[in-house]
Amino acid sequence: MSTPHTAKSSLLRIENLTPQSAHRIIQQALKLKSGQSTPQVSFAKRLVAALVFFEPSTRTRFSFEVACHRMGVHPTAFLADSTTSMAKGETLHETMNTLIAMRPDLVVVRAPAHAQLEKILAETSIPVLNAGTGVEEHPTQALLDAMTIIERKGRIESERILFVGDVSHSRVANSGIQLFKRLGAEVACSSPVDMKPQSKLWVDARHFENLKDGLQWATVCIGLRIQKERHGRSMGQEELQSYIRQFRLDKKNISDLSADALIMHPGPFVPEEDFSEELLQDSRVALHDQVTNGVYVRMATIGDLLGIPCT
Ligand code: CP
Repeated sequence: MSTPHTAKSSLLRIENLTPQSAHRIIQQALKLKSGQSTPQVSFAKRLVAALVFFEPSTRTRFSFEVACHRMGVHPTAFLADSTTSMAKGETLHETMNTLIAMRPDLVVVRAPAHAQLEKILAETSIPVLNAGTGVEEHPTQALLDAMTIIERKGRIESERILFVGDVSHSRVANSGIQLFKRLGAEVACSSPVDMKPQSKLWVDARHFENLKDGLQWATVCIGLRIQKERHGRSMGQEELQSYIRQFRLDKKNISDLSADALIMHPGPFVPEEDFSEELLQDSRVALHDQVTNGVYVRMATIGDLLGIPCT
């Protein structure tokens, strides 16, 4: 099958992005959002994107679907549920081989582990976009978060960005720290000791055991959900209540954050545990801006990977 595009590469990890390429995607996303740039949708009218999700998602999947439609690319989604042949015992790898054999022009994948994505990439020349791998990476989330910080604060350089909560299980924080540092920001985290990240990405990052200290340091605060499904053990009631008392982002706990700070969360949030719904009324909160910006960042990324021109 011939396609009218020249694929530039894939996006699996933040390390695939230079600061220049990240800024280019973010600037293009901002132009698409403001209407200064418009995709030539007719160019992409025969292109198909396979959106393949082996883990649950609301915003990333829907966002990629909307972004594909806006770029003129046809999205077709595979969600690993009881209606697919995985319910009959087909493996993730063979499922991917089967979908790739249908020759989509782009594959967007959410997989439980990064190694699965590397394996897919090694076996295909089709561009692959990471839509979140286990606890490891979520590069388009980091791009949309950086776009939101630049849009709301006017810059990302020299901002002090604090991840709060279950950092050790967060692919959002792992991609975030790499991208934000590349773009000149400082990054730290605040969490209970047993949720402090152990990976080498975080060796030089400050860790605040006390949220109040972290919030006094931060200019941007990013809350995280407790990733209970990745803990491998159940969290006791006492432990959960202690977490909520100390680390849930709510009116009481964020009282030390400055008036011009930005409050973010990748979503989904659990109101009783990590992010109080009442905060959505706070003008410092950018949760739904993040969701909106996700569409533009994904449009810019898809355009970049598939070579779709924009005026
Ligand atoms: N932020 C994010 O990845 O959300 P979903 O799991 O809903 O896609």
